[in-house]
Amino acid sequence: MSEIEWKNEYSIGVEEIDFEHRIFVKIIRKIENAIQKESSERKVERLIQELIKYASFHFQSEENIMMDIKYANIVDHKKQHEQLLTRLQLVLLEIEIGQHNIATLPVFLIDWFRNHTLEEDKKLSSFILSV
Ligand SMILES: [Fe+2]
Repeated sequence: MSEIEWKNEYSIGVEEIDFEHRIFVKIIRKIENAIQKESSERKVERLIQELIKYASFHFQSEENIMMDIKYANIVDHKKQHEQLLTRLQLVLLEIEIGQHNIATLPVFLIDWFRNHTLEEDKKLSSFILSV
């Protein structure tokens, strides 16, 4: 049974970002499904790579908006994006050497998404909607 899905509370009111966030959540759900079905480690690794690539694209997309509107909090916001990408690379390394408890990954990812979206992305959307 999958528990990770899009919730209306994640919506920040900026169409482009909300659209990309829905796909971000879908990829987390794919990772959750693969783990629940006890798919091979290789498959989970491939899905993590998919998330890394999608997250890189999506973060660039948000950062471009921030540049365009001269968003004051860009450095801190960008740092959170970079921290997640670094963390995911570490997860891949940990899986490779057998030191990652993969069962904890979906909750970690959706918690990161929820916290980041409700705090940083909401601050950004308030700014976007005010200019
Ligand atoms: Fe963000």
